[in-house]
Amino acid sequence: TVPLRDLAAARGIHLGTALAATRLTGTPGSIAARQFDAVTPENEMKWESVEPERGTYDWAAGDAIVAFAKAHGMQVRGHNLVWHSQLPEWLTTGDFSDDELRAVMLKHVTDEVTHYKGRIAAWDVVNEPFTDDGGYRAGLWYRRLGVSYIADAFRAAHAADPAAKLYLNDYGIEGIGPKSDAMYALATSLKQQGVPIDGVGFQAHFALGRVPADFRANLQRFAGLGLDVAVTELDVRMPTPPDAASLRQQADDYDAVLRACLAVARCRGVTVWGFSDATSWVPGAFHGQGAATPYDAHYRPKPAYDAIAAAL
Ligand code: XIL
Repeated sequence: TVPLRDLAAARGIHLGTALAATRLTGTPGSIAARQFDAVTPENEMKWESVEPERGTYDWAAGDAIVAFAKAHGMQVRGHNLVWHSQLPEWLTTGDFSDDELRAVMLKHVTDEVTHYKGRIAAWDVVNEPFTDDGGYRAGLWYRRLGVSYIADAFRAAHAADPAAKLYLNDYGIEGIGPKSDAMYALATSLKQQGVPIDGVGFQAHFALGRVPADFRANLQRFAGLGLDVAVTELDVRMPTPPDAASLRQQADDYDAVLRACLAVARCRGVTVWGFSDATSWVPGAFHGQGAATPYDAHYRPKPAYDAIAAAL
């Protein structure tokens, strides 16, 4: 059968997967390389991973994923630069003034983007800036620096690697509503100010049967701002163990997401947040839920895999 990545390429989009540096060999590595033409490090480029102690960088795991991607002709989405979560303890417990904190953030963005310069197709520069009601999330950066942290981060990333595409990324913004309206207003304002933003990433962590009917229309309105869009972390969770009807519904959900992206000219691709139920983050994050990916825990393709192939 034709690899999914070849089908995707023929349709002009990328098909990506999240991947951990511990899974570059054996069955997971060979499926990743055969089926996908893009990879997002699942945790390896997050701040706590790259700078566990202040001033001590550890790029080894991220570098290994980048090398794997290069060896297999895959592009890399850098994930992520500025987020409220998975920050090192020295940063969250440190006694920094606001000015120091801004300098620390800008140094982090500059150092990480510089390390990977020329090797990252797109960066998630700012991840999850909003709460579900469309307010700014009161994480470290917003609390201490206000909304200007966002524009500052994009400017620093652009200065460090002018060729990388720079994205805002969030979940719960797939359908039109308060949270996506907030993202739309932010993207509009950044564009108006001349901030170097290239795209918006829609994580797309869905519950079964919950792909919004207006996903395509919503992607299109962001594209209308002159931005690229991408589905960056797709999965469809369900209560475990799954039954056959749920797996068919899940296939319909994957189909709907692929079709939404394919229908929008500026949708650059779809990335799944892990391709196998053996490694998915879902059971660890959502109690009693799982089976969220296109391959089962034994790396056998599920109906969702067939739906992706058919949609492409
Ligand atoms: C998740 C990883 O998959 C887990 O391994 C980790 O323990 C927590 O983070 N939104 C994001 C991703 O932007 O970085 C998250 O990844 C999933 C939700």
